[in-house]
Amino acid sequence: MAQGAILVVGSLNMDQVVRVTRMPVVGETLLGAGSLKLVPGGKGANQAVAMARLGGQVAMAGRVGRDPFGERLLDALETERIDASLIVADQDEASGVAFIFLSPDGDNSIIVAAGANMQVGEDEEQFARILAVLRQASALVLQLEIPIETVKRLTKAAAEIGIPVILNLAPAQSLPRATLSEVSVLILNETEASILSGQRVESVEDARIVAAVLQGYGIKTVVITLGAHGALLVTIDDAGKMHNIYQAAPRVSVVDTTAAGDCFVGALTVALTEGQPPEDALRFAVHASALKVTKFGAQSGLPMREEVLASYH
Ligand code: ADP
Ligand code: NA
Repeated sequence: MAQGAILVVGSLNMDQVVRVTRMPVVGETLLGAGSLKLVPGGKGANQAVAMARLGGQVAMAGRVGRDPFGERLLDALETERIDASLIVADQDEASGVAFIFLSPDGDNSIIVAAGANMQVGEDEEQFARILAVLRQASALVLQLEIPIETVKRLTKAAAEIGIPVILNLAPAQSLPRATLSEVSVLILNETEASILSGQRVESVEDARIVAAVLQGYGIKTVVITLGAHGALLVTIDDAGKMHNIYQAAPRVSVVDTTAAGDCFVGALTVALTEGQPPEDALRFAVHASALKVTKFGAQSGLPMREEVLASYH
């Protein structure tokens, strides 16, 4: 791997998407609209692809099964020029799959069968190879669709080497304070922020309060995404000064919110890794993810850098 790439360690899932007019209730069989769509997804892979399309140099570590989905998931990364040499094809487990029901207003309900993703980092040989690449990386990007033990161990290792850790706390789970204190940038949505802090997050004001609480855990930058309301970023600069930045989202017509958060994480990571000031990085991330929701599919709907810049310049 070339020096200075962003290393993503995370999940790859084949998204199986069905459009529905409403969500089914327990015991009900519902006819979906149209045929099944297969779209490469998984939070880790989505964030890696978002970064590659937005101008980042990216390497990804993960695990797929020895099945046709695994091959397609790998191809999807290679098409984006992502270094996939740290992705292992597991002997026993199936590739991760997500069953997505997409409603007409663009909202979704998702069930994930994690499969091989839950073996990421469990095998010491793969873990050692990840550590070797981590030493050369510009940043480490993590989400919570892989074993928590792997997230804890990698965060600790990165903090020891001095590589910034960008952690997206999705899907929502609480983590030990010791791990959170080693994170440089914590990115969460309103639900995840509520679960982690135990406080309600339903407005920008709530988000400001909770972000300050989370910063108290020793995290330099806390970012809370607020869906159609944009995002809030709280950070302490090198001079010790606090910055509290809110960016509203542009009004868009929503087609599919799948991977909006992943697009946001990818965009913010690329901009911060380039050394952009936090205001600029936040504006870039909010506009990139707003564009994502106007398009269908997880990876298929992720925007290119030029498109994002043209949307607000
Ligand atoms: P997640 O997808 O993780 O639930 P959010 O819903 O907060 O996270 O969305 C992440 C980002 O995507 C938001 O901060 C915003 O920039 C953008 N976004 C999401 N929904 C919309 C929307 N309806 N209109 C415009 N931007 C949106
Ligand atoms: Na998210």
